[in-house]
Amino acid sequence: MKKQAPRLWVVILVAFVFCLFVLFQIKKIDLIETNLRITHQVNNFFISIGASDNQTLTRNADERDGIRAKQPKEEEEKTDTCAGRYIYMHNLPSKFNDDIIKDCRPLIKWFDMCPFMVNSGLGPQVSESDNTTAQVLTVKTGSWYSTNQFLLAVIFRERMKHYECLTNDSSLASAVYVPFYAGFDVSRHLWGYNISVRDELGIKLARWLGEKPEWGKMYGRDHFFVTGRIAWDFRRGRDEDSDWGNNLMLLPEFANMTMLGIETTAWANEFAIPYPTYFHPKSLTEIWRWQRKVKSLRRKYLFSFVGGPRPNLDGSIRGEIIKQCLASQGKCNFLNCQVNDCDNPVKIMKVFKNSVFCLQPSGDSYTRRSIFDSILAGCIPVFFTPGSGYNQYIWYFPKEYTKYSVYIPEKEMKNGTVSLKSVLGMIDKEHIKRMRNEVAKIIPKIIYTKPGWVGPDKIEDAFDIAVVRILDRVAMVKRMMEEGKDLQNEYSQVKDLSRLEVI
Ligand SMILES: *[C@@H]1O[C@H](CO)[C@@H](O)[C@H](O)[C@H]1NC(C)=O
Ligand SMILES: *[C@@H]1O[C@H](CO)[C@@H](O)[C@H](O)[C@H]1NC(C)=O
Ligand SMILES: *[C@@H]1O[C@H](CO)[C@@H](O)[C@H](O)[C@H]1NC(C)=O
Ligand SMILES: *[C@@H]1O[C@H](CO)[C@@H](O)[C@H](O)[C@H]1NC(C)=O
Ligand SMILES: *[C@@H]1O[C@H](CO)[C@@H](O)[C@H](O)[C@H]1NC(C)=O
Ligand SMILES: *[C@@H]1O[C@H](CO)[C@@H](O)[C@H](O)[C@H]1NC(C)=O
Repeated sequence: MKKQAPRLWVVILVAFVFCLFVLFQIKKIDLIETNLRITHQVNNFFISIGASDNQTLTRNADERDGIRAKQPKEEEEKTDTCAGRYIYMHNLPSKFNDDIIKDCRPLIKWFDMCPFMVNSGLGPQVSESDNTTAQVLTVKTGSWYSTNQFLLAVIFRERMKHYECLTNDSSLASAVYVPFYAGFDVSRHLWGYNISVRDELGIKLARWLGEKPEWGKMYGRDHFFVTGRIAWDFRRGRDEDSDWGNNLMLLPEFANMTMLGIETTAWANEFAIPYPTYFHPKSLTEIWRWQRKVKSLRRKYLFSFVGGPRPNLDGSIRGEIIKQCLASQGKCNFLNCQVNDCDNPVKIMKVFKNSVFCLQPSGDSYTRRSIFDSILAGCIPVFFTPGSGYNQYIWYFPKEYTKYSVYIPEKEMKNGTVSLKSVLGMIDKEHIKRMRNEVAKIIPKIIYTKPGWVGPDKIEDAFDIAVVRILDRVAMVKRMMEEGKDLQNEYSQVKDLSRLEVI
């Protein structure tokens, strides 16, 4: 008898490994190789084995998962595929979200945001008004919108309302989402308001959150919020009216939370998630069709730049880029946003679909929305500083940046030693094809699918990836708290975004 028992375990173990193997093979066939989704499937697999089998297995599964879920009651355990994935969304007073965007005209001083508020924040749908539109976008699917980048917080909240593991029972939740429109709150006060006006609402929300029972569980370490503005807007250096932004992320409550935004500064509790693009598909089939299309296009231009010049004073390389582009004898396409409408999806996508490489120099800040529009068009991004891509979207871009992009150091561009035409022109066709295939693989990860869409062929998109990662992070932080570890590295540590090795 004593000899039999270990043998039985070996059999169980082998069977288990075999099941995993089969699962991976099935997933490999999948056209879109989204690693995260595979992980997720495996996690579900562990959980369901545990559920149909044994308590001990379930506990193991959760540990492998990196998520220490609260053990549900025996009865629920059989069906609960949301274990460890529940999110509680705070029901904030409307002054923290809806009221802010209701008064849409003053949200950004120089720009009317009102037209972009429709369709859950996706903006007006692009209609098939002419043949160019039909050719550039596959508008028949109705999945193209004039989406504004600042609407990310609204789009994310709409997606969250339909998240399959949203719960009203905060005791079940693994993370707490705070649907605060922090970006619009700061932007409506950026010009011509003193710091007490700029800081007011954030301070009120910090107080509100701190008084809720959900706060006490982890002192806000399990809370997160999303913003469609760059992180610098929330980290004002000094309390001077002349300084930029508000003090949101310096408030003790917010310093305990995690911020997801379009661009991070360097603090460890900020994570960059993609700017919204114009494409918000409803199905995987639609994405496959689009990926096939952008992979097979004939592209007229070697490279292109969509943007405006910036003063050379700040050491901007845009002047040099534009100069080289204009002198390229037809190799480069420059769409000057000082004289063109660069909010027009058809115009933008037309340029990117027609170019092999798309130049992505920094502008007013490190990152630009253009990075995501060009990836969507299957155009290989060219970066000039690690802080504008590699060290920002670490949840979304492959670690090996040479696989999907070209890196030209800003320094070399500045002193004029680099000729874009020759550097990019030297890359052979096979290499280009490999890079473009990698770019195409990124597409499903960086788009936001239409809110409310749940179908049999659900897409793991930018929202889903963010949710998986935030749950992982909170689980890790929770473990660290239980073990009494110092959380400084996870919250107040400042990273070096200019390092080329991806951090
Ligand atoms: C589950 O574990 C219990 C002991 O905790 C054991 O008695 C039972 O046989 C196990 N069930 C299965 C299906 O392996
Ligand atoms: C658009 O294409 C259709 C045929 O595909 C053609 O009949 C029509 O004249 C075109 N319209 C314009 C404005 O080019
Ligand atoms: C939470 O409660 C609200 C109001 O009672 C309800 O409308 C909503 O459907 C509930 N959501 C979930 C996920 O149970
Ligand atoms: C800031 O501006 C508001 C409204 O304009 C005003 O009421 C308030 O007194 C100002 N605060 C300070 C400290 O100047
Ligand atoms: C932030 O979290 C720490 C524990 O990690 C806690 O001691 C502190 O009180 C929290 N701050 C606030 C404002 O809740
Ligand atoms: C330009 O900058 C690069 C990188 O710093 C350096 O290697 C190169 O020597 C510089 N060239 C000139 C002409 O200054």
